[in-house]
Amino acid sequence: MDCFRSLAGFSVSAIAVFIFLSSLQFNCTEAYDALDPNGNITIKWDIISWTPDGYVAVVTMYNFQQYRHITPPGWTLGWTWAKKEVIWSMMGGQATDQGDCSRYKTSPPHCCKKTPSIVDLLPGTPYNQQIANCCKGGVINSWAQEPNNYASSFQLSVGAAGTSNKTVKPPKNFTLLAPGPGYTCGPAVVGKPSKFVTPDGRRVTQAMMTWNVTCTYSQFLAQKTPTCCVSLSSFYNDTIVPCPTCTCGCQNNDTNPGSCVNPNSPYLASVVNGPGKNSLTPLIQCTRHMCPIRVHWHVKLNYKEYWRVKVTITNFNYRMNYSQWNLVVQHPNFDNLTQIFSFNYKPLTPYSSINDTAMLWGVKFYNDFLNQAGPLGNVQSELLFRKDKSTFTFDKGWAFPRRVYFNGDNCVMPPPDAYPHLPNAGSRVRFSILVFFITSLTFFLFE
Ligand SMILES: *[C@@H]1O[C@H](CO)[C@@H](O)[C@H](O)[C@H]1NC(C)=O
Ligand SMILES: *[C@@H]1O[C@H](CO)[C@@H](O)[C@H](O)[C@H]1NC(C)=O
Ligand SMILES: *[C@@H]1O[C@H](CO)[C@@H](O)[C@H](O)[C@H]1NC(C)=O
Ligand SMILES: *[C@@H]1O[C@H](CO)[C@@H](O)[C@H](O)[C@H]1NC(C)=O
Ligand SMILES: *[C@@H]1O[C@H](CO)[C@@H](O)[C@H](O)[C@H]1NC(C)=O
Ligand SMILES: *[C@@H]1O[C@H](CO)[C@@H](O)[C@H](O)[C@H]1NC(C)=O
Ligand SMILES: *[C@@H]1O[C@H](CO)[C@@H](O)[C@H](O)[C@H]1NC(C)=O
Ligand SMILES: *[C@@H]1O[C@H](CO)[C@@H](O)[C@H](O)[C@H]1NC(C)=O
Ligand SMILES: *[C@@H]1O[C@H](CO)[C@@H](O)[C@H](O)[C@H]1NC(C)=O
Repeated sequence: MDCFRSLAGFSVSAIAVFIFLSSLQFNCTEAYDALDPNGNITIKWDIISWTPDGYVAVVTMYNFQQYRHITPPGWTLGWTWAKKEVIWSMMGGQATDQGDCSRYKTSPPHCCKKTPSIVDLLPGTPYNQQIANCCKGGVINSWAQEPNNYASSFQLSVGAAGTSNKTVKPPKNFTLLAPGPGYTCGPAVVGKPSKFVTPDGRRVTQAMMTWNVTCTYSQFLAQKTPTCCVSLSSFYNDTIVPCPTCTCGCQNNDTNPGSCVNPNSPYLASVVNGPGKNSLTPLIQCTRHMCPIRVHWHVKLNYKEYWRVKVTITNFNYRMNYSQWNLVVQHPNFDNLTQIFSFNYKPLTPYSSINDTAMLWGVKFYNDFLNQAGPLGNVQSELLFRKDKSTFTFDKGWAFPRRVYFNGDNCVMPPPDAYPHLPNAGSRVRFSILVFFITSLTFFLFE
């Protein structure tokens, strides 16, 4: 629903503002993200050695997605064994359920289920149970944000399996929860065995056999209610366009009392620290939109050659700190972004000819941590764009973003007809100075 709503909003504004964009095709039902068309999680399964009744394999998940990361409580990987395989032992990961191992009289295996579910181990696991790239609580960063830390591995020893590349069968029906639904995994494809270079670079070893599984994300499959919305304001109009009412839920005292907390409530502290303190169920500050995250885009200043925007991300969830948050914003002027203050920036060019999408994230140790709701629960930055005379205008909401994602989730925009618009031509001369002062003041108060 969120998908269709935002698509509708997008295409209306696209037609009104930027006709060429509407030629791109978007289809919400497919596992396909227009801003990251090749994004996928690749699971590589390398058989390192054969054993008397099976093999030892290292399984590595690579997050080849530009901006979608796997957040706490992390991934769960499942599959269906092709034969009667069991997992004798594991390192760097564990099966959540041992299953029925009664057919093994002595020393039962780690897991005998036909459809095992594997999770990562937690940081602080003893060294003798670790392998490289393990033990991060199932959290994996995005590819663009941390190019050296986008993989997660575990090792397993499989029994009752084939013992040569002719008799071993890859598992079927891989499933990936990360943490909720959203990913669809294809079949295992046997390919060229992986090669591994020793740390000193002087020797290359090779897997006995390798297969890959590719999983792709679809917001439609995830069917999450929206978790993020966008509000807008500008120096040329004193209207602050709020997030649409009930974007992420409705405040309703009759049917759902206590669904949110009022920041002025004297009981705030006891509710925030009350039962469920460590649960992942959000505890949201009462707002009209009821979203845990709001992104505010303020068109702040107009210079002769440049214009300036202030972006503020506000956290309304009392139970969530977002470490390593990211924002993806689409606006036609990103090809002339001149300066960005206090966020990292990487252009995403899913269609090599169109450079209109930016990935933004916090500066390490400065604002890469978005605190829980409250006085510290926001991060902000300013963007300076160079005007391209042939396209630049403040008219028809051109200065506002076309699409915004927070941590890979679509942020619901206000309807395009509500965008702040330029005052009528007649008042244009006087508006600039007067309105500028009024709106600077309002925005200041609003924040
Ligand atoms: C997965 O992503 C990687 C990196 O972008 C790419 O090389 C690979 O072709 C993708 N796999 C599929 C099946 O799309
Ligand atoms: C199995 O290994 C042999 C020898 O290394 C190789 O020639 C053959 O192509 C492999 N078969 C499969 C199915 O990988
Ligand atoms: C894999 O999943 C499909 C669809 O859910 C099901 O029809 C099929 O039987 C499953 N295969 C195995 C081996 O479990
Ligand atoms: C598996 O995927 C990795 C990463 O995309 C790639 O380097 C490798 O060649 C693939 N291997 C197979 C067997 O397809
Ligand atoms: C819900 O209750 C609170 C306090 O009782 C009140 O301030 C608020 O206006 C109510 N909201 C709605 C939507 O009725
Ligand atoms: C968020 O971080 C702050 C400061 O590090 C900490 O006091 C608070 O307990 C954390 N909140 C949650 C929900 O983890
Ligand atoms: C996109 O625009 C940015 C900002 O002007 C620039 O730094 C970047 O090199 C451009 N990227 C491409 C692929 O054109
Ligand atoms: C804006 O960027 C585009 C593409 O990079 C370039 O062709 C154009 O000259 C730039 N405009 C200005 C005013 O710098
Ligand atoms: C500001 O924008 C709003 C919403 O589009 C519009 O209703 C209002 O007339 C505008 N204000 C002025 C002074 O033009």
